[in-house]
Amino acid sequence: MSDPVPASRPRALVTGASSGIGRAFARKLAGDGHDLVIVARRGERLAELAHEVGKAGGKAEILVADLGSAEGLGAVERRASAGDLAMLVNNAGFQNYMPFVEIDADRAEEQVRVQVTAVMRLSRAVLPAMIAVGSGAIVNVSSMLAFSAGMNQPFLPKRVTYAATKAFVNAFTELLAMEVAGTGVKVQALCPGVVRTEFHDVDGKPVLRPNVPILEPEDVVQASLAGLAAGDVICAPTLADSSLLDDQQQSRNAVFRGSLSAELAPRYRAAPLE
Ligand SMILES: NC(=O)c1ccc[n+]([C@@H]2O[C@H](COP(=O)([O-])OP(=O)(O)OC[C@H]3O[C@@H](n4cnc5c(N)ncnc54)[C@H](OP(=O)(O)O)[C@@H]3O)[C@@H](O)[C@H]2O)c1
Repeated sequence: MSDPVPASRPRALVTGASSGIGRAFARKLAGDGHDLVIVARRGERLAELAHEVGKAGGKAEILVADLGSAEGLGAVERRASAGDLAMLVNNAGFQNYMPFVEIDADRAEEQVRVQVTAVMRLSRAVLPAMIAVGSGAIVNVSSMLAFSAGMNQPFLPKRVTYAATKAFVNAFTELLAMEVAGTGVKVQALCPGVVRTEFHDVDGKPVLRPNVPILEPEDVVQASLAGLAAGDVICAPTLADSSLLDDQQQSRNAVFRGSLSAELAPRYRAAPLE
């Protein structure tokens, strides 16, 4: 009897697959039977990963692209809209921790392109085909710092642009999750704390505060995939009490509902003092 024809393998596109969390996603998804489209600027790193995946019997298509450039993002977007992806991992990103007034404005804009524009455009590119087949998943790699806008703590880095992009990712993902509910497509914002990757390297060496709890990228991927299976839209890998996420949603709802009025709040009615 001849061997049965193998069912076609699902395919996942992972951005930022040349290092850290993205590479851990790529390895795990390949090990779980996905073919890959791997994206980053460092082609030699992607070639090494593709070779490793190939030796294990998988396939990885390499797409060298700078997601901060219109051409690079355009190329990935065209690939993403081909209609053959079961999963998209929007993971590429970098830190830009410094006081906002010292930041290079072009570098800050690049961060918005990579961590906001690319996330939005690639999600838009993959969704029609996923909805048409009634299945698929998008993981947008965010950060615990998405929750940190109101925290004035000296142990946290200066992070205006970085944390604001991640707050976008969370809001984008939560709203998108409501729109795609019932289609079979899952979306998730993955919000780890500090993870041991090259993200923290300065001049090739890791720069991390002492006593900071550090997660391994493989554990972050494990949490994400378990969270997807459980239907978690916000996946906070180390948050033991997930009811805190519900509480903050309730409190945001209360702020919104409490503002449903055409009258100014009493504290704004008096003319400002000279
Ligand atoms: N490490 C942490 O503590 C931590 C915590 C929370 C969230 N995160 C998030 O996790 C994600 C992955 O970071 P990581 O920790 O794994 O860092 P990493 O090891 O430095 O990896 C970052 C990846 O993003 C890619 N990338 C950066 N800029 C790019 C661009 N312009 N175009 C294409 N690819 C680009 C890099 O590839 P090339 O350089 O080869 O292009 C690399 O593959 C990021 O979104 C980050 O914000 C990290």
